[in-house]
Amino acid sequence: MGTALDQYGVAGHPVGHSLSPFIHGMFARETGQRISYRLYDVPPAEFHQRVRAFFAQGGRGLNVTLPHKIAAVEVAHELTPRAAYAAAVNTLAARPDGILGDNTDGAGLVRDLCDNLGVAITRRRVLVIGAGGASRGILGPLLGLAPEVLVIANRTPQRAQALAAQFTELGVVRGVGFAELDQPFDLIVNATSASLAGELPPFPPTVIGPQTVCYDLAYGRSATAFIEWANLQGCMRALQGWGMLVEQAAESFRLWRGIRPDTAQVLAALKERSESA
Ligand code: ATR
Repeated sequence: MGTALDQYGVAGHPVGHSLSPFIHGMFARETGQRISYRLYDVPPAEFHQRVRAFFAQGGRGLNVTLPHKIAAVEVAHELTPRAAYAAAVNTLAARPDGILGDNTDGAGLVRDLCDNLGVAITRRRVLVIGAGGASRGILGPLLGLAPEVLVIANRTPQRAQALAAQFTELGVVRGVGFAELDQPFDLIVNATSASLAGELPPFPPTVIGPQTVCYDLAYGRSATAFIEWANLQGCMRALQGWGMLVEQAAESFRLWRGIRPDTAQVLAALKERSESA
């Protein structure tokens, strides 16, 4: 009996470089789930209409990547609390009463830090650099682990202060400019788009001590500017965001299929793939 496969995919623009089909393909094989997962290159002007059509035709779920994460908030009929806090959606799922919007980015980061890398966050001093969409997506899940303090530092200090003000009910959070940073942190997360441009935000080296773990949300074949800088300053460990990429995908897969895949194999395969590319 030929039953059609449940349809999934990732919507972005451009989207050709996306690793999501590879990741979800491996998850599906590993868990024995028979699904189809495709790339959808969707220009911004067509986003709402294309997403509605996808679900109207029986599509089960979509990942949403740049530049659509904010537009996806409006296309959803209902949001999970973490997506509402993030004000951005990276996962859409068909539900009986409409389209559900979720954001698994922050949960993916926290999973990678805690489960894969053994980095403690509770009662630690955490610094998030950047006050754009990427920062907003990770603040809730980080604060959920009750750090001693979470400082958001940004080139434009007002943006950091405004972002911090929106999260004060979740924990101890402050927004500052780079000039106000002086003491070392236990964990520093780079959530600026500077890495993508090979740039380094001008924050002082005093934020790094011998125990500091540095994490760049960006990832690439070679070390990002932030990772290189952090290593030069003598941090304990400096890590790229490969694990977050895989963990956020696993959270999406769980939302869709009700089963959480094991991520270790996929992470190893991705690293190998990027190193041999
Ligand atoms: P995203 O959704 O990727 O977070 P965004 O909303 O444009 O994108 O935010 C980009 C972030 O990277 C901002 O915090 C930005 O700082 P400003 O708010 O001061 O613009 C930061 N950023 C980008 N390039 C940077 C650079 N070269 N140095 C320091 N910060 C930079």
